[in-house]
Amino acid sequence: MPDFRLTRRHLLASPLALAACGSAPSTPPLGPVSPLKDLAPCPVGVCGMSGQFDDAGWRDVVLTHFSQFTPEWEMKMEAILRPDRSLDFTLADRCADFATDNGLRLHGHALVWYSQGAEAFAGLDRKTFAADYDRYIREVVTRYRGRTVGWDVVNEAVAEDGDGLRSHHWSEGLGDIDHIRRAFDVAREADPESILFLNDYNLENLPRKGATFLGLVDKLLKAGTPLGGIGSQFHLDIDIPDGQITAFLREAGGFGLPVHVSELDASLRSDSRIDLRSAGERQARQTARVTELAEAFMALPPGQRYAFTVWGARDTDSWLRRDERDDGRDSPLLFDASGTATPLYDAVAGALASG
Ligand code: XIL
Repeated sequence: MPDFRLTRRHLLASPLALAACGSAPSTPPLGPVSPLKDLAPCPVGVCGMSGQFDDAGWRDVVLTHFSQFTPEWEMKMEAILRPDRSLDFTLADRCADFATDNGLRLHGHALVWYSQGAEAFAGLDRKTFAADYDRYIREVVTRYRGRTVGWDVVNEAVAEDGDGLRSHHWSEGLGDIDHIRRAFDVAREADPESILFLNDYNLENLPRKGATFLGLVDKLLKAGTPLGGIGSQFHLDIDIPDGQITAFLREAGGFGLPVHVSELDASLRSDSRIDLRSAGERQARQTARVTELAEAFMALPPGQRYAFTVWGARDTDSWLRRDERDDGRDSPLLFDASGTATPLYDAVAGALASG
């Protein structure tokens, strides 16, 4: 497919065109662009929910640009586990079928997460707690065996500030490290093929948290845990110092495991009370950080580039746009509400295509 970007961009750069846009954007919007999955030498992923499957605009962006799918919600415990701890796969099956029917790799997310399951597992004796923990993981992973390329087996195990591991119902019931090792062992027994990931966030934003996470990876591997991949969500803080992203990815890559950029978005929203920067200055910062990420990911050996996944197809699909702090103008993703490429598409496409 020809690349129209340069033609469209030159046309829109004319002062008249920009003036007609009202508040002229710092970077003119891109026109029709090349499919990302054709430019990238690795899988490019996107998340989504079954309620989007009938949205033509969403399908067009997803099926044109992406080669891997992560269910944003339906494969999580809160979507599968009923209060009596029976399992309902209706929504998860819908997502797995969407991926299969459209030739997308399927990444399962997420088996064990601190933020889910507490109510259903409350008050159980240890034997029942352990048996049902194992049964949940085993039944979910077995159901999609041969259809998932990987699983986020444990999500967000490290404490918010990076000081050790989180404490929660899973760690209290089965041990800080033991509940993690157990989850990987049960998942591996259920599915010998899928790559099993430890997934977390703010690993680049908070170097202390990144160090604790990589220390956990090291400890699990030395204990013989079947940990097969490292997932870093990259919900980017665009104001972090240059080079922090590269430093984390370089160290993470040192384990020689597949690395998943698992949930990229880069909010333009500033949390500081007064931000005197122009929209253009913030967008430049955003583009620089995402470029750094994509380039650092491409600096990994090809065999370690599991997938580069963005957490939403269009800006308006982003979970950030459902946040009560949203100002209705955030543009954290590669495509805007109309499915037109944003400057982040250019940043990612340019870096991935260089591979
Ligand atoms: C988020 C989804 O995007 C939201 O729609 C949902 O309401 C809450 O979870 N880290 C994760 C993801 O691993 O599962 C979270 O996804 C975002 C943070």
